[in-house]
Amino acid sequence: MSKILVTGGCGYIGGHTIVDLAEHGYDVISVDDLSNGYLQMNAGISEILKRPVKNYQVNLCNLEDTRAIFEEHPDISGVIHFAAFKSVPESVSKPLEYFRNNLGSLINVLSCCKEYQIKQFVFSSSCSVYGNADHLPVTEATPMKEAESPYARTKQIGEQICRDFAHANPTISIALLRYFNPVGAHPSALIGELNERPENLVPVVTQTAIGKRASMTVFGNDYDTRDGSCIRDYIHVMDIANAHTRSIQKMEEGVLPTGCEVLNLGTGNGVSVMELIQAFEKVSGVRLNYTIGPRREGDVIAVYADNSKAVNMLGWKPKYDIDSMMKTAWDWELSLKKKEETARLN
Ligand code: WQD
Repeated sequence: MSKILVTGGCGYIGGHTIVDLAEHGYDVISVDDLSNGYLQMNAGISEILKRPVKNYQVNLCNLEDTRAIFEEHPDISGVIHFAAFKSVPESVSKPLEYFRNNLGSLINVLSCCKEYQIKQFVFSSSCSVYGNADHLPVTEATPMKEAESPYARTKQIGEQICRDFAHANPTISIALLRYFNPVGAHPSALIGELNERPENLVPVVTQTAIGKRASMTVFGNDYDTRDGSCIRDYIHVMDIANAHTRSIQKMEEGVLPTGCEVLNLGTGNGVSVMELIQAFEKVSGVRLNYTIGPRREGDVIAVYADNSKAVNMLGWKPKYDIDSMMKTAWDWELSLKKKEETARLN
């Protein structure tokens, strides 16, 4: 049974990927310093898998602490690196923290991959590297634009670091996975996105619908799109998770060759903010209290993927449509409310 180290394993995408890896026969260990992740995620994973998954609460910017994990597990065959700060507005106000954390941790993990001869590495990248692309859908060959934020720049630089590392270490296979907009939750509603004050759309929608927030704002409906609101490629977090499992599988099979492969992880369907809200209201039966406000600085008008390279190379096919994304997101919010009510009663 191959052992995979997942960094950021108590985070939203890392946690869901651990479940998918384990369900496909992998032995998984997690490292997460809980600066962004939650132990609740690790508990939920154990409930789904009916066995514990060990998490090392280590800051990957500390090289000695990071090396100690590889020392303890000489049988690690692959690494999936999620651990990073990821708030776009926070990166604008704290650029140095973002460069130090996101790039420092990546460099330490890659240096351990070299020292411990790890041959499979998956890097969590982002469609934000494209910026406002001139043509849609974006393919992996679409040139990167000027990053809209220091966060996006850490992903652009992170990809370059991986490329240079792969060039200097020709026996390693590296997949650079560019996520579009991951949303939704595991169908069990035992794990999902955890963030008290989210800035991204779907948790803002579900927190407004359940009453945690009085209302929400649609940031602009005067864009040059079919209904005036921004368009994104929303993709279910379990589809994203499965693409990671398949990347490791294809590296083991030699289908993903040594060197660096960039893959777009999107559905290929663009959905507007208003269309997403309408889908949510239909699925939840809840009328959403929102107002139309001014545009948000840094927002890309429209971006969605050409995912054919990932579909062909990984044999991957996104399974969830926008309605099922909204259903699992809503079920997760409802389960959080139930947990909070139970906690209040005890
Ligand atoms: C989507 C749309 C908003 C909140 C995110 C991550 C980024 C990257 C890509 C991983 C926009 C609108 C939002 C609200 C709104 N992911 N919106 N009201 O900006 O595409 O970027 O996905 O690397 O890290 O930040 O996602 O969900 O913030 O916004 O109208 O209260 O929803 O204007 O058009 P975004 P988002």
